[in-house]
Amino acid sequence: MRPKIVAILNQKGGVGKTTTSVNLSHALAKMGYKVTVIDLDPQGHLAVSFGQVSSRVSGIDDVMLGQTRLQNQTFEIRENLKLVVAGPRLQEIEQLNEGGVHRGQLLKEALDADSEDDYIFIDCPPSSGILVANALFAAEDILIPMTGDYLSLQGLAFLMGTIKRFEKTLGKKYKISLVMSRFSTTRRMSREVLNTIRKHFPTQVLATVIREAALLAECPGLGKTIHDYRASSRSAQDFRNLAQDFVESRMM
Ligand SMILES: Nc1ncnc2c1ncn2[C@@H]1O[C@H](COP(=O)(O)OP(=O)(O)OP(=O)(O)O)[C@@H](O)[C@H]1O
Ligand SMILES: [Mg+2]
Repeated sequence: MRPKIVAILNQKGGVGKTTTSVNLSHALAKMGYKVTVIDLDPQGHLAVSFGQVSSRVSGIDDVMLGQTRLQNQTFEIRENLKLVVAGPRLQEIEQLNEGGVHRGQLLKEALDADSEDDYIFIDCPPSSGILVANALFAAEDILIPMTGDYLSLQGLAFLMGTIKRFEKTLGKKYKISLVMSRFSTTRRMSREVLNTIRKHFPTQVLATVIREAALLAECPGLGKTIHDYRASSRSAQDFRNLAQDFVESRMM
């Protein structure tokens, strides 16, 4: 069976893409699914969040530049969970201005090999350049984390426009879900934004909301997922619920 390739995407910065990539993928791995997470952000935060700190190690950068194969860059970091780090040359790919359409297909070609995975997640950078184009070429599935503020809502309209253009150009239709991330239960604006997106995308907003929590902000600095750090916390439970929602939504 081919893995589901999921781009975790939002051009807006700091909305919870990496936090979702880390904790959703680990929750799924703990449920028994085989998962690979790829860091497509030159910032390299995904590796740091999993406690893999060497920024000089090559990763998906050299695969996309044709220097090596994906299998050589894939490391098991937890049971059922593998990581491909960004690598120091990923920034070069963002700046490639030769290669025409082919520049957008580097990741897709790398992922075309056989895989035992159920899911491959791509943690995207906060931009809309070549790297994100590569994620959209490779994926058939998109998960959009967003936050409960007005500009996030504006950004979502822009992002949906970008996705539509890709659908038209590539002649495909993505499975798209939204997850409300960094949700503040006490802020009226957060609740309003959640209600607005539920109204506009009634079937696409996942039921589980990831609440703002100090524990989640502590995790990257410790190199631990929330499931490593505090498996009994409500934040870990949020991500277990999200994993369940995500799996069910992909069965439809
Ligand atoms: N639910 C949450 N509660 C508290 N802090 C959070 C939560 N989600 C994310 N954070 C923190 O907010 C910051 C931004 O989150 P994260 O790095 O996941 O966003 P991102 O969308 O990947 O950012 P970038 O666009 O820079 O890649 C991080 O410091 C993270 O620890
Ligand atoms: Mg990130």
